[in-house]
Amino acid sequence: MDFKTFNAKKLCGEIIIPPDKSISHRAAMFAALSNGKLNIKNFSKGADCHSTLNILKQLGCIVDFKDDMNFSIDSRNALTAPNTNLDCGNSGTTMRLMSGILAGQNFNSTLFGDVSLSNRPMKRIIEPLSLMGAVFLHNNFKAPLTIKGSRLHAITYNSPLASAQVKSAVLLAGLFADGDTTVNEPFQSRNHTELMLKYMGADIVSNSPASTTIRKSKIQPENIEICGDISSAAFFAVAAAIVPDSDVIIRNVGINHTRSGIIDVLKRMNADINVFNCRNVSGEIVADIHVRYSDLIATTIQGEDIPRLIDEIPVIAVLATQADGSTVIKDASDLRNKESDRISTIVDQLKKIGADIDELPDGMIINGPSKLKGNIIINCFHDHRTAMSFFVAGLIAENPMLIKEFHWVNTSFPEFEQLMYSLIK
Ligand code: S3P
Repeated sequence: MDFKTFNAKKLCGEIIIPPDKSISHRAAMFAALSNGKLNIKNFSKGADCHSTLNILKQLGCIVDFKDDMNFSIDSRNALTAPNTNLDCGNSGTTMRLMSGILAGQNFNSTLFGDVSLSNRPMKRIIEPLSLMGAVFLHNNFKAPLTIKGSRLHAITYNSPLASAQVKSAVLLAGLFADGDTTVNEPFQSRNHTELMLKYMGADIVSNSPASTTIRKSKIQPENIEICGDISSAAFFAVAAAIVPDSDVIIRNVGINHTRSGIIDVLKRMNADINVFNCRNVSGEIVADIHVRYSDLIATTIQGEDIPRLIDEIPVIAVLATQADGSTVIKDASDLRNKESDRISTIVDQLKKIGADIDELPDGMIINGPSKLKGNIIINCFHDHRTAMSFFVAGLIAENPMLIKEFHWVNTSFPEFEQLMYSLIK
């Protein structure tokens, strides 16, 4: 399905942001590892999280739906060998975290994905898991991955990347390994795995923000409520910040410090943003966010900022086109390994619509403000965040753009268009 963008006079009103993708994956996976049955409330409708859920069913879990976002999962105490290969779809989180879980089982399994996922790097998890005794068959470190269930031993892993997927794969394998498994990172990546495993009683400790140790332990079936996704909220916050006269309240947003870099960047860029009504939901901090249009200034985003907003960089690039001065984004070379090469897909296509933007090996420089002209065909390269970022750019572009294969949005955020329509005046 292709989509023709359009201008908005302003965005006004309130929305409740749909459930967090990273937390939904973890809730389903950890439920499957727990000793019994638990309820999950407010699970993501995105295709990625449903890839995880389907795999867990193939591994013997019973999922009983109350409705499409609320269900119980009964792990029946242990995962069982699947009858077929396990389809991760477009989801890197599914493939990498499930690899950590499957490495420690007493059966073999094969994970595969779509074209985009089959081209993404898996060495980052194969290497540390192999050091723990896991056995993988792979296609030059790419999917499909066949995992021979093995007896694992603990390691201390100094990860070269600040990646929650790598950290989580090793920590999850550590749940089945003899000894203390420690992961050290260059900067702290999102910590939903650590918070949720702790909430469910695993033997896991944080040595410092970027260092965690886990020991073999049982996890208990605690009910989990999933908060709204700050990565989804980012599209609305940016839209409200760049469309004149906008005034939007975004409710139920997870503002975990390891994910909230977008809020800090909006503040540094002089956006009119207010975070209020903070509360705790199943161990995560949640708030409501009020954003109004304002004049914006450029900023520099680098180093430890990057893991705190890695998924928001495509829409931050759109934001920066409207800020006065040079916004520099660096230390983000891993953006080239996401659902698409997000540095080149964003820079090339923003340039074509009139942004003053240059590619760096590890980021981009955006000189603003500039008028976005539109009037081109956008290729989202199987990447939901590219599609949604150009929808937001379209709200202020002089002419419409045709976004090809806009349905990729459904991998994380099927409610995106409908929520946008409810705010656009
Ligand atoms: C995720 C971690 C991030 C992020 C991805 C989801 C997770 O990836 O980009 O969308 O749920 O752990 P990396 O860990 O590869 O940085």
